[in-house]
Amino acid sequence: MHVTFNLAADLDAALKAAATTAGLEADAFNPEVRPADPRHGDFQANGVLGYAKARKLNPRATAEQLVSALPDTLREGYDVSIAGPGFINFTLKPATLLAWLQTHDTAAHLKSGAAALYHGRRYVVDYGSPNTAKQMHVGHVRSIVIGEAICRLLAFCGAEVTRDNHLGDWGTQFGMILYGYRHFLDHAALARDPLEEFERLYKVANAACKADPAKLEQARLELVRLQQGDADAVALWQQVNQLSIDSLKAIYDRLGVTYDFFLGESFYRDRVAAIYHELTEAGLAVESQGALVVFHPEHPRFATQPFIIRKSDGASNYASTDLATMAYRVEHFSADGIIVVTDTRQNDHFEQLWLTTQKWFSATNRRLPEFQHVTFGTILGEDGKAIKTRSGDPIKLQDLLDEAEERAFALVTEKSPDLPEADRRDIANAVGLGAVRYADLSQNRSSDYVFNWDKILSFDGNTAPYLLYAVTRVHSIFRKAGLDPKDSAATAGANAFESEHELALSRKLAGLPAVLNTTTAQLRPHFLSTYLYELAGTFSSFYAAEKVIVDEAPVRARRLLLCARTLLFLETGLHLLGLRTLARM
Ligand code: ARG
Repeated sequence: MHVTFNLAADLDAALKAAATTAGLEADAFNPEVRPADPRHGDFQANGVLGYAKARKLNPRATAEQLVSALPDTLREGYDVSIAGPGFINFTLKPATLLAWLQTHDTAAHLKSGAAALYHGRRYVVDYGSPNTAKQMHVGHVRSIVIGEAICRLLAFCGAEVTRDNHLGDWGTQFGMILYGYRHFLDHAALARDPLEEFERLYKVANAACKADPAKLEQARLELVRLQQGDADAVALWQQVNQLSIDSLKAIYDRLGVTYDFFLGESFYRDRVAAIYHELTEAGLAVESQGALVVFHPEHPRFATQPFIIRKSDGASNYASTDLATMAYRVEHFSADGIIVVTDTRQNDHFEQLWLTTQKWFSATNRRLPEFQHVTFGTILGEDGKAIKTRSGDPIKLQDLLDEAEERAFALVTEKSPDLPEADRRDIANAVGLGAVRYADLSQNRSSDYVFNWDKILSFDGNTAPYLLYAVTRVHSIFRKAGLDPKDSAATAGANAFESEHELALSRKLAGLPAVLNTTTAQLRPHFLSTYLYELAGTFSSFYAAEKVIVDEAPVRARRLLLCARTLLFLETGLHLLGLRTLARM
């Protein structure tokens, strides 16, 4: 039996073809095939009702017409029934489930199946994107892990993804940093931790300038020299940025994130003049109190609160460089889609940016890409306020990751004191970093969430330790049986699923394509997390109820097939979320 990856898409196409065969207006008919409540089937077509109502037809009769026009090959694969006023329900037959699971036997096969979703579409994903000369803190973790999961998911589903870090590497703070660098630099501290030293230099310089207007004037002159392109100031600024990027990369490495580009704000500073010109020509930008601004008269707030694209002192800003970034990403990267991941505090900025871009691109006949501002809430401490250290400072990202690994190491040591230390460190790395990541990705990103070490490191519930442990359990089934989960010999000769638990698990597995669809359509990784958690639970019930290594060869093979695919789907899914999985722990 030939089965494709995306069963819902197949059913959709089959119903559309049936509409033609049955003499309906196929062009106007959208079958709307969706995953169904498992009690009613695997998929449900909801589109008949709307179609029939609009034409004053009896929906049940229309559904019957469609069902009888379905080809025999499809009826062989599913039990088809009509429910309620005219829903069509499809339940996968055990033999279809078996064929589907046999076909999708490797991550590469899953990927090639999923590739139809975003085939060849080019996305630029802008995430992480911190300011340079500063350490990253806990607030940056969300943008990094959500952004990386989105990149992996889109690439898995066939998109070409460019990872771009839009560094905040240009701005008035550099006057202070350069001044600090020239007067207060601690070379040893710079060698140890450049970002920490730059942050200190900024603070020290700032304090010195507050106390002494002459110093403030010197810092201001540093900025002027930098903005005017003075070779010496530019060289020092470049050095600060290069050291910053090198330090940031060490943390990105640790989190398995590799950017294709670090095109920060400074990269666009020579491209803003053309934008002032184009937007003014198009009648979109106007002078207001010395600044150049864009009003959006149709918008309740932005009619009076304009988008400032050039400051009154003539300097470019976050808005002007972001406009230049839009154009560059479309022209240079041929982006079909642009995704920017930041917290919700930047909502207004991106709303104004997008409104302006649409009008500007239309006035200049540019191709308009798809744009999504992917936002997220705040990580809270137990007190319900943004999480802080005891002394009230923001928690440094590096410290958070260190603590995650230390805590996981203590846990692993308690559970398996006899493992060699190197193994315990390796497990702790996967569990600790995985826990921080998964805690974030398992929440709807729009919500704030309370960060609690005990909760995220628990082996119970929807956590990384639980899922990573579930993976090792399946590995151990194969290990004990002396089999390799990747070797098809173990699962050859399987016959169709029979028992309630076999069927429940195989149907849960067949739900993966729909989950990938929803996750990428909404760019919300928690849909995938929830699925993986449920899959692990369904597997647990199956494994508690059925013996896998039985004498009867076809039964053993089909149960091993369920184990092997559960393992493959869990591992593939967790890798998409950025977790590293283990064979034992
Ligand atoms: N650097 C900014 C910040 O730290 C985020 C940049 C997001 N990307 C963009 N194209 N504006 O808040």
